[in-house]
Amino acid sequence: MPGLLHLDSSADLTGSTTRALTRTFADTWRGLGPQHTVTYRDLHTDPPPHLSDAALHWAPRLRRPGETPDPAAAATQERLLAELLAADVLVIGAPMYNWSIPSTLKAWIDQVHVLGVTAPFDTREQPLAGRPAVVVSARGAQYGPGSPTAGWDHAVPPVELVLGRSLGMAVTVVSTDATLAFRVPAMAELRTTAKAELDAAHRSVIELATRLGHQSAPVR
Ligand SMILES: Cc1cc2nc3c(=O)[nH]c(=O)nc-3n(C[C@H](O)[C@H](O)[C@H](O)COP(=O)(O)O)c2cc1C
Repeated sequence: MPGLLHLDSSADLTGSTTRALTRTFADTWRGLGPQHTVTYRDLHTDPPPHLSDAALHWAPRLRRPGETPDPAAAATQERLLAELLAADVLVIGAPMYNWSIPSTLKAWIDQVHVLGVTAPFDTREQPLAGRPAVVVSARGAQYGPGSPTAGWDHAVPPVELVLGRSLGMAVTVVSTDATLAFRVPAMAELRTTAKAELDAAHRSVIELATRLGHQSAPVR
């Protein structure tokens, strides 16, 4: 049963670009057949708690004496970890908020990036190694290569670092820029480019969901 974990984090419940793109991904996935299941988590409407205790960044065996997190907080973290570890493919809606990611997505990352559990520390174990993760980014302005603001995106890079480098997942980023061109009159001249990028992003998520859905025979 190839399982998709579908996460959204946009605070826009009506016109969100990332929600539309991740929905297209999930619908394409479901369309591959009844064995293609989807677990959905809305990090905005049902936000994970902030990490309540730094000890939760470490596997229980790596905690020092006295580092005893609240059992309820540990149980919440275990549920989030189990959900991620059970997924064959992950798709995340990651809008740019203040050149970074929404705090709800950051809270989820803090919960699931655990040394000695999902990230290697005292052993080389990386249980999510090679598992596909698709990060869907939408940015109000433009940050493409060569633009004056090319280095200002602090949303996608940390997500790529955690999922890709630390957890070893196979990360693909689908991004679409200048989404505010449809709202801000001063950006109206960018609408054609923005629409073309958005259409390309929709084609990309359909292609990715189809390919990853066919590939992802469970290996566990
Ligand atoms: C709280 C907030 C902060 C934002 N900060 C930025 C920003 O720093 N840079 C930018 O280009 N766009 C910024 N935007 C615009 C969003 O990146 C843009 O609207 C994007 O499409 C949001 O994704 P969504 O459509 O999935 O909600 C911000 C939007 C919000 C709501």
